[in-house]
Amino acid sequence: MSTQSSAASKPRLRVLTGDRPTGRLHLGHYVGSLKARVALQDTYECFFIIADLHTLTTKPAKDDIARLHDNIREMVLDYLAVGIDPEKSVIFVQSAVPETYQLNLIFEMLVTLPRLTRLPSIKDMARAANMDDEAIPFGLVGYPVLQAADILLPRAHLVPVGKDNQAHVEITREIARRFNRLYGEVFPLPKALIGEVPTLLGIYGKAKMSKSLNNAIFLSDSPEEVAAKVRRMHTDPTRVRPDIPADPDKPTNVVFRFHDIFNPDKDEVNELKERYRQGKVGDVEVKKRLIRALNAFLDPIRERRAYYARRPDLVEDILLEGTRRMREEARATMTLVWDAMGMYGPTDLARRLDQAARG
Ligand code: TRP
Repeated sequence: MSTQSSAASKPRLRVLTGDRPTGRLHLGHYVGSLKARVALQDTYECFFIIADLHTLTTKPAKDDIARLHDNIREMVLDYLAVGIDPEKSVIFVQSAVPETYQLNLIFEMLVTLPRLTRLPSIKDMARAANMDDEAIPFGLVGYPVLQAADILLPRAHLVPVGKDNQAHVEITREIARRFNRLYGEVFPLPKALIGEVPTLLGIYGKAKMSKSLNNAIFLSDSPEEVAAKVRRMHTDPTRVRPDIPADPDKPTNVVFRFHDIFNPDKDEVNELKERYRQGKVGDVEVKKRLIRALNAFLDPIRERRAYYARRPDLVEDILLEGTRRMREEARATMTLVWDAMGMYGPTDLARRLDQAARG
């Protein structure tokens, strides 16, 4: 594979990031993270984790788990559709890497409980899951520790995440530092790469784009679905007629905000804005042009998505190969961990029992 030869000639810095498998991804994910990931692949050795174990922290019920399989496939299709390239990057499923659970336990000893319980993100996640503080499970408190295991298993240097995950990368650095002090230098101190992109608004302009708020345009939406959603988009509520001059740059005018981001024809956008300021263009035309721009943006994504959707075996192979590759790294890291700690790891006793079990 091309990655391996170039990695051998010059070791590249490693990136690890990923998502909980909640299903299909939308334009907010694209602007907020996917776009940057695609760009990072050329410079860094990238590992993209599908963090299914993390979903258990708030959704441990069996029917939640039953949805994971489809959610993972939909998300991988979206990754591939936007241009995450399995020839360059590793895409893997967290729960299929046993070393994740092992490193998680070691790391649990290296962070204090108050450090974790003070994090606002834990309570935020509990609240989002309609959970009282009293009902917060041990595992949700440990969410950032598990994330530290994800990041440090491939010994990643960079972690592109949103602001909501910044504190978790900080915990990861503290754990890495503590491990290295206690046992010797095994881990790099990973840095968070916080994207400076403003969060994308949903189609009604009031809140950020989010699946649960029903205001999202999905990467997998058809041209007709995109058109219908753009027609429902909010513009300027004070502009009840097209001949009223108005400011297209108002932050809440979603149609123009989307033009700014997704319409590459800046002359067209500027001309529309000028006419809007003069009260010489109606919402219908502004929206029609946005529909065209969005669909032009999404067309190649749809094409790649359809290509992979028609080849489920290929998608399965990509996940299998990515997870195999991650396991290889994970085993190497755990050997370093156990050696540094002077712990036996799965040596002697475990190895003898494994061999005996295999007959
Ligand atoms: N916590 C991330 C989220 O908000 C998902 C995640 C799990 C992650 N492990 C990670 C992100 C490691 C970056 C690095 O969904």
